[in-house]
Amino acid sequence: MKNTYVITGGTRGIGRAITIDFLSKGHTVYAIYARNLDEAQKLIDISQQYSGKLICVRGDLTIPEVMIQTTNQILDTVEAIHGIVHCAASGVHRLVDELKTKHLRWTYEVNVFSFHELLMRLLPKVSQNAKIIGLTSAGSSRYLQQYAAVGSSKGALDALFRHYAVELAHRKIGVNLVCPGMIETEAVKNFPNSEQRVSAAISLTPTGRLTTVEEVAELISFLVCVNHNQFTGQTFYIDGGKGLLA
Ligand SMILES: NC(=O)c1ccc[n+]([C@@H]2O[C@H](COP(=O)([O-])OP(=O)(O)OC[C@H]3O[C@@H](n4cnc5c(N)ncnc54)[C@H](OP(=O)(O)O)[C@@H]3O)[C@@H](O)[C@H]2O)c1
Repeated sequence: MKNTYVITGGTRGIGRAITIDFLSKGHTVYAIYARNLDEAQKLIDISQQYSGKLICVRGDLTIPEVMIQTTNQILDTVEAIHGIVHCAASGVHRLVDELKTKHLRWTYEVNVFSFHELLMRLLPKVSQNAKIIGLTSAGSSRYLQQYAAVGSSKGALDALFRHYAVELAHRKIGVNLVCPGMIETEAVKNFPNSEQRVSAAISLTPTGRLTTVEEVAELISFLVCVNHNQFTGQTFYIDGGKGLLA
């Protein structure tokens, strides 16, 4: 069956790999991004080789008027939404004694609040058996240096998703989180001490390597195509076993 999916942050990094995977299976994808037109254009160019249809929507979801425009554009053109994947994320990387409330607010705006607003606005067109997937990270439940803002926002997202899972179950919507280990996307390259973090992550990963964006896309592709919502409220780890270590 050909489905319609909305992917926040669908033009770069992990979101881009998910977009390509869905397009290659013939699905329609609304890929939302904030600013980076070049990456969106490159994706539009390569999308021609796939049977699916790509609509890149430029919309910074933290701006209320843009949220309305973006969601109206989707609602006006789709009959039904079969899944939403929340990849968009941003955040301020600081030690706690340098972290201001405005940094936390900004991080939560992108990572948590904007998704809740998006979901509530799109919900009328979200179909039975649709899947809502959030991208979380190990820092949602454990310590990572300079990760207080993003980690705590992911913790909030995790809790919010548990509540979505229970309260949307009667609509037959499945709600789950995917937690990848470190992946060398632009976001990670922009981390303070990125190179040291990458080598430390590899040395602590039982499989001896980092996860790839394609592997995350493959997992999400499986999660969205299941024709029931019997697994819901779960977090699926894809980290080469790193999270198992004490
Ligand atoms: N990479 C990792 O190691 C890793 C590990 C665990 C979890 N994750 C999670 O996986 C997800 C994807 O990570 P990534 O590394 O692929 O990220 P990324 O490469 O930084 O891509 C982020 C995407 O989000 C979009 N975005 C950011 N702010 C937005 C806003 N206000 N409105 C709309 N779109 C916005 C960006 O748009 P522009 O292109 O316009 O900026 C971009 O498409 C995130 O939730 C991240 O926390 C990543």
